Amino acid sequence: MPEPLLEARNLKTYFYTAKGIVKAVDNVSFELYKGEALGIAGESGCGKSTLAYSLIRLVPPPGKLVSGEIVFQGKDITKLSEEEFRKEVRWKGISMVFQGAMNALNPVYNIGDQLAEVLMLHQNYTKKEALEMAKKLLQMVGIDPSRIKSYPHELSGGMKQRVVIAMALALMPPLVIADEPTTALDVVVQAQIMNLLKRLRQELGLSIILISHDLSLIAEIADKIAIMYGGKIVEYGTSEQIYNNPQHPYTQGLLNSIPRLRGEIKDLKWIPGVPPDLINPPPGCRFEPRCPFAHERCKEEPPVVEVEPGHKVACWLYVKR
Ligand SMILES: Nc1ncnc2c1ncn2[C@@H]1O[C@H](COP(=O)(O)OP(=O)(O)OP(=O)(O)O)[C@@H](O)[C@H]1O
Ligand SMILES: [Mg+2]
Repeated sequence: MPEPLLEARNLKTYFYTAKGIVKAVDNVSFELYKGEALGIAGESGCGKSTLAYSLIRLVPPPGKLVSGEIVFQGKDITKLSEEEFRKEVRWKGISMVFQGAMNALNPVYNIGDQLAEVLMLHQNYTKKEALEMAKKLLQMVGIDPSRIKSYPHELSGGMKQRVVIAMALALMPPLVIADEPTTALDVVVQAQIMNLLKRLRQELGLSIILISHDLSLIAEIADKIAIMYGGKIVEYGTSEQIYNNPQHPYTQGLLNSIPRLRGEIKDLKWIPGVPPDLINPPPGCRFEPRCPFAHERCKEEPPVVEVEPGHKVACWLYVKR
């Protein structure tokens, strides 16, 4: 087995707020191999974006990566100085398409200038070289390079999202994190952006971490899926394992709440109750208050059980008494 491209071990990222400590990412571990696509799914507020920010060291204050290791290309990048991290890792090694970024493009600069700026800042390109490269990047994401002088307001939502993806690719990093890249788009454009990500992955050998609350979207592209609940990964496996053989009651609930190819729309169910308060989470399994199978043992933290090769679930149901 080759070494993973990225290995996150026991990550904890907390927000130190006036109301208390928000345990947004609480002991999360996973690995990602070169060329692999990992999907991270879970309800709003479960810590998906915070996990992504932790990886590229952009957790906003009052948040902080409290502990854990992030081994990227064989090196623990949590040990790097800010300067080293900026030079070696962020954008060049790991880049990110931020949640909502397509609406955060600068309205007063054309897209060519915005792309060129990234290249001049990080690659010491001249303006002319940077604009040439910007054209190539636009082409790569399916935008006619003649649009290089367009302003964000002249582009459709799908095109803006393509520009944001082009920015993430500017330094050709081996790993791109895409945080809800299709959420604000209609279904047709969603499919186009997903196809673009699939194509880029193949053509460039990219590894991708795709974050979405939409499990069906993730299953389309991901080799592996991590299901997050209340700051923790509760289930992890191949797309097939998760989609066809979900084991954690939360994953089962999540899948029952989305339309499937087979099955009636009227059979859709949502999980009653609300996600946990991450300042005072339930002491044991965080899903326990909502879980239809909860019992006494669930008041204690569940162990991670490997139910079949590579398929792990944090749930007491799979621990033999
Ligand atoms: N700047 C902040 N200050 C305090 N708490 C924060 C901050 N940012 C996030 N949180 C808290 O951290 C937890 C995780 O938030 P996060 O944004 O990572 O969730 P998410 O899974 O990305 O949700 P969504 O699907 O809505 O994007 C939430 O409880 C949120 O309230
Ligand atoms: Mg988010």
